[in-house]
Amino acid sequence: MQILSCWGSIAFEKVRHIQETERYTIATLSIITLFVLWVSASKYIRLIIPEDRYPLVFDAQERFPLSLIYKPLNWFKNGPRIIHDAYEKYPGIIYRLPSTDRPSIVLPARFLDEISNLPDSIASNSHATADFFVGAWTTLDTDAFSHTTLETIRTQYISKIGQQVGPASDEADYVFGRYFSSYEDWTPIAPQPKIMRIVTQTIARTIAGTEICRKPEWVESVIGYAQNVFTAAVYLKLVPRVMRPLVAVFTPYIYRIYSYRRKIRKIISPVIEQRLFWRHQQPEFWAARLKSEEMSTVDWLVEYSPPDEAVPEIMAHRLTGVSFGASHTTSNHITNCLFELAADFDRWAPPLREEIDTILGPNMTNVTNADLSKMWKLDSFMKEAQRFHPPAKLSVNRTLLEPYELSSGDHIPKGSHISLAGVPMSMSEQYFADATTFDGFRFERLRRDHGKKYSGLQFTSSYAGSLHFGHGRQMCPGRFMGSLISKLLVIKFLQCYDLKLRAKESRPDNIMFFDMDYPNPDYEVLFRDRKVGISC
Ligand code: HEM
Repeated sequence: MQILSCWGSIAFEKVRHIQETERYTIATLSIITLFVLWVSASKYIRLIIPEDRYPLVFDAQERFPLSLIYKPLNWFKNGPRIIHDAYEKYPGIIYRLPSTDRPSIVLPARFLDEISNLPDSIASNSHATADFFVGAWTTLDTDAFSHTTLETIRTQYISKIGQQVGPASDEADYVFGRYFSSYEDWTPIAPQPKIMRIVTQTIARTIAGTEICRKPEWVESVIGYAQNVFTAAVYLKLVPRVMRPLVAVFTPYIYRIYSYRRKIRKIISPVIEQRLFWRHQQPEFWAARLKSEEMSTVDWLVEYSPPDEAVPEIMAHRLTGVSFGASHTTSNHITNCLFELAADFDRWAPPLREEIDTILGPNMTNVTNADLSKMWKLDSFMKEAQRFHPPAKLSVNRTLLEPYELSSGDHIPKGSHISLAGVPMSMSEQYFADATTFDGFRFERLRRDHGKKYSGLQFTSSYAGSLHFGHGRQMCPGRFMGSLISKLLVIKFLQCYDLKLRAKESRPDNIMFFDMDYPNPDYEVLFRDRKVGISC
């Protein structure tokens, strides 16, 4: 014992002595040793895990010691630029992007049909969306976009879209007047938050019916849910996967998501119960209701849900998912259209107004689907606005649920995220002449060019030059509804107001991060009552 304590005090003395005299040298040597070990380990890891065969656009592994922090930040900040540069750098070949939490593989256009025709049991859009929004934590999971949800949307918003025009138009008129008043002189207004409310309420009319959509707490909860899912997803994607539980606990967003979900469930549950009752106890009334303009997404969800899914909790979750998919995409699209209009109002507004006036005549109410389908200039303007600023730069996003061998023999591992470079493609001269110039009526001219066979030129249709609603069997099932509401509102703006930007300003830059593209919600456009023509 005595020997041990004697040894201990000698060692302590030595360490103390060393710390006092040479501690800086030892600390430096230790750091260098750790660094060398770390770098060797990373090389060793790369030897035992063979490099993927597709080039990685920005090789963050070269900065291995810092990549855990650097890689997500780099992808967050520079993602949009990296996506454009990569398209230029690797024309026609498969490459990987330094996306944060999954292998992200970008395919050239020749694989478009092959990928977009794969069934969702192999390549799933719902999984890609849930992965992107970190659904395991933010609740925007694959069940929100289940088969039943998608079948419901396809029935209501594709097969029966004609029946949606009346209710959507009524609601848009009703709510528009509450958010946009009369502006006798040029008045600065940030349109995005107001448009978000109008769109959310208009879509809520067809999702949940009149009694729900006019409840301010529904609109607030749906918007609040979506905003917190976005914010939480960004924070969660910026940290390594192992730290996600910490972020989830220490940020307020996840709590808010659950709080908004509770509110949504509380509001919608009695409506779901009532529809379930009608379906089971009053079959004749129910059948007539499904054929009427009163039908809503709740009704079709009740109609299509198998018994084990026909419970308010599951249905409320799916309705929240539909509202999420519909509101931001549509309102951001309308905001982008307004920014383009305001940036060159005298060029775009007169022909658009002329088209609208010719087709609708003096009767500005009771717009029909047939009326809207005749407005080629408006359709073209919307498609061009979307070509410049769709919701995301990558298109036809899928998560592979099985390993897949492309027709070229290239192997894509299970769990990969695959996509096409939608925006770089639609901004390339390969698909459009003078591609980087905003030309509001380019699609109208192309459609009228009878000498050539074009397809995919309408706002809601797609081809390799225009993939912003996706493509193929998993293409956005709500696109006709998104188009309908966008058109109704842009018509309303053109009927009621003149727009312009402040002197010497040009079209404002959008906010871009990861692969996302978002119009600036604070940017103000100048509004003034339309002097000639219809007054609102
Ligand atoms: C201008 C408005 C809209 C835009 C730009 C848009 C865009 C998109 C895109 C790009 C996709 C992914 C498709 C793919 O990668 O192949 C998508 C999917 C989806 N959209 Fe839309 N959308 C819009 C409006 C709507 C509306 C109004 C609804 C609902 C009524 C909706 C519901 C959905 C759903 C449920 C999916 C998921 C499909 C799946 O998982 O298979 N969208 N949308």
